[in-house]
Amino acid sequence: MQYPPWTSVSKAAKLLKAGEVVAIPTETVYGLAGNAFDPQALAKIFAAKERPTFDPLIVHICDISQLADIAKDIPEAAYKLARTYWPGPMTMILPKKDCIPDLCTSGLPSVAVRFPSHPVARQIIQEAGVPLAAPSANLFKHVSPTTAEHVASQLADRIAGIVDGGPCSVGVESSIISLVGEPTVLRPGAITPEMFADILGDVKVKESTSKPGQAMQAPGQCDTHYRPQVPLYFGKVPEGYVLPKKTARIAFGTQEGPIPATVNLSKTGDLTEATAKIYAFMHDLDTPDYELILVDPIPNTGVGMALNDRLKRASIKQLPV
Ligand code: TXA
Ligand code: MG
Repeated sequence: MQYPPWTSVSKAAKLLKAGEVVAIPTETVYGLAGNAFDPQALAKIFAAKERPTFDPLIVHICDISQLADIAKDIPEAAYKLARTYWPGPMTMILPKKDCIPDLCTSGLPSVAVRFPSHPVARQIIQEAGVPLAAPSANLFKHVSPTTAEHVASQLADRIAGIVDGGPCSVGVESSIISLVGEPTVLRPGAITPEMFADILGDVKVKESTSKPGQAMQAPGQCDTHYRPQVPLYFGKVPEGYVLPKKTARIAFGTQEGPIPATVNLSKTGDLTEATAKIYAFMHDLDTPDYELILVDPIPNTGVGMALNDRLKRASIKQLPV
């Protein structure tokens, strides 16, 4: 086989039907997809990513009607959210049906479901004819991919295909809301807590806490989940701190920083633009050319909450002395 294994929508669908795993574009990040009903395909996903099996997968569908094939006891709230925010960057946690293998949900009685809006993702799910389990298409604990090249650089020789659908428009993983019990936002994303509250009234927002070795009730709980190899520091640099010579600065807006901006997430301070760019900058600057990556403070409002969440996880807690 040739690497990277670039492939088309129809070939990807055939590979998926045959139990292979294929990287596909979505509007959030690229996903590593496999037949959600096939435990062997699921095992290939965990193996390719070197992902521990206590971290459950999201199941992707291409029509709201498929929700009832996968989940049971679906509350009206789920349909209200689905009609408003699907297709799009929202994942709902619901009680699972028996047809979803335990490997997919890490033994949890609930399943994560998402209907992505990316036309290529929708077409692949449709042609494959089955729901597709798909975590982000990166090695475990690495930065999520927002281009096909990012996928190729991490997984090219481990998977059967990569479909190039261009750069992801959202740029961070979907918002996750649990509808098992009281509606609770487990992971911030482009659908903000305010947007959930608009439809459901009050929603809770879960603070993440690590519990190593247990099935993750809330996602991305490993503190180092999104961490690049070059130390990244998110926040204000203390006065008088001497930065290493090879420091890159990811700026936001027109703030002053300790060194000139290497790149800017959004010169106009647009949080949506910044979110779409963050992972690509983290990939680009994650090279031996740099010893440290600084990221300017970013307002913790709207989709900025998702950015703050991912950057806090990516950040070292203290600057090196
Ligand atoms: O935007 C996205 O959601 C991307 C694209 C590919 O769709 N996928 C993605 O998958 O971010 P992944 O595996 O990187 O993150 C899925 C998270 C996991 O951290 C997992 O803990 C959580 O979803 N999750 C899955 N099933 C769950 C469940 N039953 N209960 C609670 N959390 C769950
Ligand atoms: Mg991930």
